[in-house]
Amino acid sequence: MKFFVDTADVDAIRELNDLGMVDGVTTNPSLILKAGRNIEEVTREICEMVDGPVSAEVVAEKAEDMIREGKHLAKIAENIAVKVPLTWDGLKACKALSDDGHMVNVTLCFSPAQALLAAKAGATFISPFIGRLDDIHLDGIDLIADIREIYDNYGYETQILAASIRTVNHVIECAKIGADVMTSPPAVIKSLANHVLTDKGLAQFNSDWAKTGQTIGQKL
Ligand code: E4P
Repeated sequence: MKFFVDTADVDAIRELNDLGMVDGVTTNPSLILKAGRNIEEVTREICEMVDGPVSAEVVAEKAEDMIREGKHLAKIAENIAVKVPLTWDGLKACKALSDDGHMVNVTLCFSPAQALLAAKAGATFISPFIGRLDDIHLDGIDLIADIREIYDNYGYETQILAASIRTVNHVIECAKIGADVMTSPPAVIKSLANHVLTDKGLAQFNSDWAKTGQTIGQKL
């Protein structure tokens, strides 16, 4: 499963990218606001740092305006994936932009029916939002499983980009189902390293080591 980072924080992306953990980046208007940077400047900086797709989202509501904004964003770098919302106009923009050779990420997907339409409109990525479904007491993981089944039934090449990931469990369930990509905040990726037994074991080793009175590198 590919790891995308869901942030416009360049320092956070760099830390994970230097470890080889970053296969791509997703941004959205809220993340641009949080970063406090100009969308074109920060997106260009991210595209230069990361090899994989970098999603930049249009903000228009009409298809023709989304297409114009998408073409503009795509000029920033070759690895831009234009992000469009899953509305009827967004699907029109998806079709036009993908026919024009651009990667398109269709975002704000909350149902298998929406995901089916995005695949038919030629989306490169479909972004089902897990956490926001969980927030309203629906099961976001079920949505990933349903889309996987539908896409596999018909051989759609649209990649499932599991989004709105909040927990380690979300990541692991997506990997078990076979989501192609997951995108999460940097903190969730870092938390994949945590385990209470690792902490406990390390504390025990450190305590026993202190009792030996030894130092590594003392004799050589
Ligand atoms: C995906 O592309 C979105 O930017 C993101 O995953 C939304 O996550 P949120 O629901 O935590 O805001």
